[in-house]
Amino acid sequence: MFRSHNCGELRISNAGTPATLCGWVQRVRDKGGMVWVDLRDRYGITQLVFEEGKLTAELLEKAKKLGREFVIQTTGQVAERYAKNDKLETGDIEIIVESLDILNASKVPPFLIEDETDGGDDLRMKYRYLDLRRNPIRKALQLRHKMMQKTRQYMDQQDFLEVETPVLIKSTPEGARDFVVPSRMNPGEFYALPQSPQTFKQLLMVSGFDKYFQIVKCFRDEDLRADRQPEFTQIDCEMSFVEQKDILNTFEGLVRFLFKEVKGIEITDIPQMDYANAMRLYGNDKPDIRFDMKFVELNEVAKGKGFSIFDEAELIVGIKAEGAATYTRKQLDALTDFVRKPQVGAKGLVYVKCNEDGSFKSSVDKFYSQEDLKTWATKMDAKPGDLLLIMSGDTNPTRSALSVLRLHMGDELGLKNPEEFKLLWVIDFPLLEWDEDTQRFHAMHHPFTSPQKADMALLDTDPGAVRANAYDMVINGVEVGGGSIRIHDRETQALMFKHLGFTKEEAQIQFGFLMEAFEYGAPPHGGIAFGFDRLCSLFGGSDSIRDYIAFPKNNSGRDVMIDSPSPISNEQLDELEIKLK
Ligand code: AMO
Repeated sequence: MFRSHNCGELRISNAGTPATLCGWVQRVRDKGGMVWVDLRDRYGITQLVFEEGKLTAELLEKAKKLGREFVIQTTGQVAERYAKNDKLETGDIEIIVESLDILNASKVPPFLIEDETDGGDDLRMKYRYLDLRRNPIRKALQLRHKMMQKTRQYMDQQDFLEVETPVLIKSTPEGARDFVVPSRMNPGEFYALPQSPQTFKQLLMVSGFDKYFQIVKCFRDEDLRADRQPEFTQIDCEMSFVEQKDILNTFEGLVRFLFKEVKGIEITDIPQMDYANAMRLYGNDKPDIRFDMKFVELNEVAKGKGFSIFDEAELIVGIKAEGAATYTRKQLDALTDFVRKPQVGAKGLVYVKCNEDGSFKSSVDKFYSQEDLKTWATKMDAKPGDLLLIMSGDTNPTRSALSVLRLHMGDELGLKNPEEFKLLWVIDFPLLEWDEDTQRFHAMHHPFTSPQKADMALLDTDPGAVRANAYDMVINGVEVGGGSIRIHDRETQALMFKHLGFTKEEAQIQFGFLMEAFEYGAPPHGGIAFGFDRLCSLFGGSDSIRDYIAFPKNNSGRDVMIDSPSPISNEQLDELEIKLK
């Protein structure tokens, strides 16, 4: 028997009994005649005591030589501690050691394996297996495990079947670049790794599987950020004979179940907001509705007073930061610098302080009277003490810059309570999105998304105005899931490809299999996929999904631990008939 107990389970009730433990040496304190060792495993920490007189001198010497992260096995008597440690679950007891075996020594680890570590990101990524020994990361993976089990429990209870789909496939357009894999047996030809199992899950509906789900790896070659990894996991779902409201109901159920079971939180209201309103009121299709600060448009009241920047702008729009009229000149300058950063892209920022005495102080006092500013304040429902922050320019870039400022103000004013979870469905997305670079329309969700019936006639006359049967779930400003009702007949699918600029031949080559399947009794169907890593990090209270992935990639898409991607041998290249430039 290697161990009788783990390092987290012994309590005062075990005092007086023997125990054998295995684990890693977290810390050694050597006081001459006494040596204390903190022994750690996945379950916790137990204190070991080596006391002169109670064991052989040889054993005491052995204990003194233990180093951090040595793996040991030890046997002794569980005893009540003299000085208890209420920070440890095992803090009432210690082990009076009788024997010690060093199972394996360890080099000094490159960073502290403690909750607060001195290791930088790069070092911890290189030694990820050591980083995984630390509590915060282990807990993140335990949370992930629980979320996974609970997801499967809910989906199974709802009669969904988990079906695995292949990983070596051909391109599925989800808007990113594909990762490709050369085929040795078919020289010059490549598989693509799935950006999602989209076409397969639709084919499963044609097969009559009715309710499908899969917790599945997806691969996307795109720019990486805190909430994006090149390989990530989806809870991918599809249902037949459903309308949008059925999907929303079913998956509100899943998310409610997860919050209840994993965090003990009852989610009550899940409002719905259409895309147009999300953009108008928050400048963003994934608004964080934990705080209000909605956009107010000021074109009517701010134009025509000689301030050319506003007069020439397509949109003048502002937010109200409650109680922020106390902002100093320096703070306001910092906000202006913030919005001028290239990532935000605004040219400038106009402010109006609503003073406590009812007067106003603005950065545009030259052009606007107190009366004018009062009209703005009234329109924005501002009270004395509030600060108005206003931007102008072309509609879309102005909205998106103000949206970044709104989120920044939410941080500055402490309005984003990490303990609070505000869920939202954003619905009625546009079907198509104009892409300036390629000068053509792209599917905003993906090309299999069904247009709304009422807007079908617009497809030929005003394609950009057609709304889709598509929806996203947003939690605290994070897009955690997205889906749509699908096209399920060949003609509409072909029409869609035509609008996306595919020739008939191109559509046939890439998606002929799907359009053909639609001719063999495809049921009406729709679905959704949740970003599982994002859900986990939200539940864990972090902005970064990396900590919730056992072996993540860095921001250049590298796994620095195994050093991948890496060159392959000339023999492999020859076999694949690939010539490097
Ligand atoms: P979509 O592309 O919206 O939809 O993806 C679904 C969800 O997956 C998450 N996600 C990511 N998470 C981490 N890293 C990434 N690189 C990444 N990309 C996306 C997001 C997103 O909401 N097939 C459709 C779903 C459907 O129509 O049913 C799809 O993949 O949380």
